[in-house]
Amino acid sequence: MGISADQIRGLHKYEIRILLILERLMRRYRWVPLDIIKKTIGLSESEVSYRLGRLMEGGFVRFDTVPYEGYSLIFQGYDALALISLSKKGTLQALGCMIGEGKEAVVYEGLGLSSVALKFHHVGQRSFQSARVTREYIPDEGHCPWLIASRLSAEREYEALRKLHPDVSVPLPVDINRHTIVMEFIPGATLNRCSLETPRDILLEIIENVKLAYHAGVIHSDLSEYNVMHDGYRCYLIDWPQWVGTDHLNAEELLLRDLGNISRYFNRRYRVDLPPAEAYEMVTR
Ligand SMILES: Nc1ncnc2c1ncn2[C@@H]1O[C@H](COP(=O)(O)OP(=O)(O)O)[C@@H](O)[C@H]1O
Ligand SMILES: [Mg+2]
Repeated sequence: MGISADQIRGLHKYEIRILLILERLMRRYRWVPLDIIKKTIGLSESEVSYRLGRLMEGGFVRFDTVPYEGYSLIFQGYDALALISLSKKGTLQALGCMIGEGKEAVVYEGLGLSSVALKFHHVGQRSFQSARVTREYIPDEGHCPWLIASRLSAEREYEALRKLHPDVSVPLPVDINRHTIVMEFIPGATLNRCSLETPRDILLEIIENVKLAYHAGVIHSDLSEYNVMHDGYRCYLIDWPQWVGTDHLNAEELLLRDLGNISRYFNRRYRVDLPPAEAYEMVTR
């Protein structure tokens, strides 16, 4: 699964128009009835049915009969709209392979003016879009929580990158569209997949960056060996959608947890000893 450049290129202009209409109408409908789509787009019934059929085959759109008959955009359709906008704007020249897949995001390599990473935020994918039974429990019929949650998550992460780059070592933010952020591609790997030669120096470099972020008013809140990349020269802190401000009610606890995750990892893997309380001192001093 996942999206490819060929698939996007293969979309007919009517299909793109239908995706845009669904995106717009999903503010009012969770499932958009066929009649409404037909009325809005002004194409013949057979054309609309044919195009919707192709969109469903491609995995961009989904049809349901419960609670009533209607069509809805799914993540792949939303991804396609973001990609089309980004390439129209010139931010993106080519889409490469998937390089990461987490609980709430999918990351692809791409080419813009330079090498970029595209992060598609897919929040609530499992809870909102999986089994039919779960859908009955979605509150607020007529709205589309996953679409909104995903866009907010992307905006939040982009905001952190904007605030922190270049003072803190984070990927350069390049552009954002809908639920998708475009950022500098880091040619490295997350710490859990690296074998560091100077682990103590790198731990201190991470702490220094946590400190710089802290003094810029930002706490990561999901820091671990999975969210720090190393490219052979330096490290980068990635994955910021859940950041909080240093004025947050649980700021101290979240910062301590971040530092605890990192120091525990370095201790376990490299036998480098830095108690979280000491790291906390270094950061907040
Ligand atoms: N800027 C980037 N450059 C290169 N690879 C990246 C970049 N950002 C993320 N990745 C890769 O994608 C994976 C997932 O990204 P991440 O932001 O941690 O999202 P999540 O953990 O929510 O899926 C990372 O572990 C990393 O391998
Ligand atoms: Mg991550």
